[in-house]
Amino acid sequence: MNAAATHASLLDQLPAVRGKLRADAPLSDYTWFRVGGPADILFSPKDTDDLCSFLKALPEDIPVTVLGVGSNVLIRDGGLDGVVIRLGAGFAKVEPEGPHRLRAGAAALDVAVAKKAMKASITGLEFMRGIPGTVGGALRMNAGAYGRELTDVLIAATAVTRTGEKVILKHDDMGFSYRHSSAPKDFIFVDAVLQGEAGTEDIIRERMDDITDAREASQPVRSRTGGSTFKNPDPEQSGGRKAWQLIDAAGCRGLRIGDAQVSEQHCNFLINLGMATAEDLEKLGEAVRLEVEKNTGITLEWEIRRIGRSLTGDMGRNE
Ligand code: EPU
Repeated sequence: MNAAATHASLLDQLPAVRGKLRADAPLSDYTWFRVGGPADILFSPKDTDDLCSFLKALPEDIPVTVLGVGSNVLIRDGGLDGVVIRLGAGFAKVEPEGPHRLRAGAAALDVAVAKKAMKASITGLEFMRGIPGTVGGALRMNAGAYGRELTDVLIAATAVTRTGEKVILKHDDMGFSYRHSSAPKDFIFVDAVLQGEAGTEDIIRERMDDITDAREASQPVRSRTGGSTFKNPDPEQSGGRKAWQLIDAAGCRGLRIGDAQVSEQHCNFLINLGMATAEDLEKLGEAVRLEVEKNTGITLEWEIRRIGRSLTGDMGRNE
């Protein structure tokens, strides 16, 4: 079957929705790297009920992938099988919920949560100013920055299962560890309840400004990048050295494959200088891992999620 026939046959199997469904939908503009192939089907549900009823009726052999704001993901050049779900405006509200608590939709940007908390004089959520992603992505990987991570503030999250059931996960159900949650991989988060404490707007603003300044001074925030490429290794194993220090010691700062480059500014960031493909970026990351392994014996673990079909078959393990 050719691609057009595959898409038509997939569309035929999909339930009616109130949100938007598109076949053969380009995704590169939805990722910060600006690379990657199309989704067979892209679904933007209107609200949680729309998402639940879609998943209930979706044949179980059709794969589902969730995309947030695309800041921590490398979509391969051949695109993604099945249905890609991208939560939009209907999932981006941030509202007060009891004393010093907010309920944030999974599509809300972490920075928007930090700002809303500041306006409500809630302290403790300033670190979210430093996370380049959405609440959904932060839940999935226990995102963190500047001394705190999601596990420190999460009360509970709501998710939808692959079969369209709504479930509540309390903090301890999330199985958080460094940049990881053991919540079932096919759960789609739709919102989170986050706890802060009483604060003062001006002091919170100062802390957030400090975070903005620190990020801008040390990370290539205005480039096409996926944020930190590798997790920082266990300090006991690495003698306290962070991923960037191991990469630097292995001589990889500035390394290039095509238009993919290891950032000169922060060498745990990869950058698309303009025309890089997903394959260039993934090969560059793998080359860095190999050099670090040769140089130090430490195997870096990708923090960036790599998904989709490789056009050449050279790459392909999803993580
Ligand atoms: N630094 C250099 N040269 C470099 C890289 C860093 O001198 O090439 C210096 C920086 O200037 C800074 C220090 O090293 O003074 C630490 O750098 P950074 O604050 O970026 O810390 P990191 O350990 O590399 C982690 C997170 C980041 C998060 C920062 C700040 C991981 C894998 N990364 O980076 O998260 O913003 O701490 O808390 O844990 C992300 O996950 O995408 C991300 C950006």
